[in-house]
Amino acid sequence: MNILYVCTEIYPLLKTGGLADVGAALPVALRSAGCQVRMLLPAFASIAAGVCADGPPLALPDVGGPDVLRTLAQAPMLVPGHVIASGQPVYLIDAPALYLREGGPYQDAAGQEWRDNAARFALLGWAAAALGYGADPQWQPDLVHAHDWHAALAPLYLKLLAGDRPAKPSVFTIHNLAYQGLFAASSCTELGLPASLFKVDALEYHGLLSFMKAALQFADAITTVSPRYAREITTAEQGCGLDGVLRQRQERLSGILNGVDYELWNPSTDALIKAHFDVGRMSGKARAKRALQRLLGLEERADALLFVAVSRLSEQKGLHLLPPVLPELIERGGQLVILGNGDAAIEAALRAALLGHPGQAALQIGYDEALAHRIIAAADVILVPSRFEPCGLTQLYGLRYGALPLVHAVGGLADTVTDCSLEAIDDGSASGFVFHEFSSDALRGAMRRAFALRRRPAEWAAVQRHAMQQRFDWQAPAQAYRALYQRLLTIPA
Ligand code: ADP
Ligand code: GLC
Repeated sequence: MNILYVCTEIYPLLKTGGLADVGAALPVALRSAGCQVRMLLPAFASIAAGVCADGPPLALPDVGGPDVLRTLAQAPMLVPGHVIASGQPVYLIDAPALYLREGGPYQDAAGQEWRDNAARFALLGWAAAALGYGADPQWQPDLVHAHDWHAALAPLYLKLLAGDRPAKPSVFTIHNLAYQGLFAASSCTELGLPASLFKVDALEYHGLLSFMKAALQFADAITTVSPRYAREITTAEQGCGLDGVLRQRQERLSGILNGVDYELWNPSTDALIKAHFDVGRMSGKARAKRALQRLLGLEERADALLFVAVSRLSEQKGLHLLPPVLPELIERGGQLVILGNGDAAIEAALRAALLGHPGQAALQIGYDEALAHRIIAAADVILVPSRFEPCGLTQLYGLRYGALPLVHAVGGLADTVTDCSLEAIDDGSASGFVFHEFSSDALRGAMRRAFALRRRPAEWAAVQRHAMQQRFDWQAPAQAYRALYQRLLTIPA
């Protein structure tokens, strides 16, 4: 079974969030599950630098696609190759005018969306369809698996470019419904999309062209990254305006929980931390905590309950719930470390809140993979108070490192963390602290449960042991995707 995996990020070459972690791990797991997987990525500078070409560039053939795209992209080429570090086969879309520029993959250095994003990411979907219909004479996918709004036109172009052939099937995975790829209606013609599709039951979203909606309407199957989020997005509350479409297509929608790459996230071997530890030999965790306290100028107190967050600073992540509880957290003898980057207003609010607690609270701004590992290794509690969370990976990393997750009961957070209720402690299923109402007061209650459990060292240790022994391998999700591909290709399991 040949699968084309279409996305924009792959760790460690380009990462703005969990999409990159998934892009690095899921294709590998799918290969182990018996699929032949090639990836299609834009040739952003950092991605191109980590890929070795395996043959001459392929011209995108004239498969009836929109000429205008090629004009915008000045004759894009497909470069077949492989990721140097992992050997993963890839195609890069070489279109320097679209992808080679200073700034981020989606936004400029000032945080403004690139003005030509419609063309930049339509090209990704279009190249996927071209590969689907023979752009590489050596290799053709049986199925195209596209991820998030950037790749969301792939299912539609696969239908439009099929001609007389049966359309190649597609799977679309929603990693975050809040980012939809909305563009002016006029983009439709520029992207070669038939005007007849610009209507409410196809591509139109309140007068705009929606890439995300295109995928929800035209993909043969829709998945998202946790079972709970798959249910939540069919409700008006969490559907980001697309719940109606998702309800209509509900029989094609399912949730497959993400996994963790335990080669990278394992406290006994982690190359980015110095003090290693695991269940049964926890002294390394105490050393990791002391080292972090020293590094960030916190009081070196072994008994301080260390709360951490490693997060994009965006509205989604709910970090604005923290300042009101901070005084009590410090008063109870706790400490707080936040590593984040993103929204300047959220950064300013956190900075103001933490300022009054020198020696007990530290804010690190920026994106720092090594520091993220050191913080999670050192932590007693990892905070993920997100308003919504399709899956969330840091709570899973926290579990493995004995940093008990304190989470809002939504999406993948609700699917992966069990609250320390008395009965859950008693039956051995407790793994963290879960709050239900999205408020600082509710978070405060969960924080108090963390302090209460800490005063019962034997019970804390038992919960921590259980957390560290849980496994969210990629094997099971890869099998679930494979079974889905087989159903769509009507291959018997
Ligand atoms: P999202 O994709 O919504 O940001 P996830 O929890 O799925 O949320 O994935 C976030 C990923 O990005 C994790 O691997 C996390 O460790 C990492 N991360 C987030 N913020 C930072 C940061 N400031 N520095 C380093 N890594 C970060
Ligand atoms: C998105 C979501 C996050 C998820 C990640 C990987 O960025 O916000 O919850 O874990 O994608 O699927």
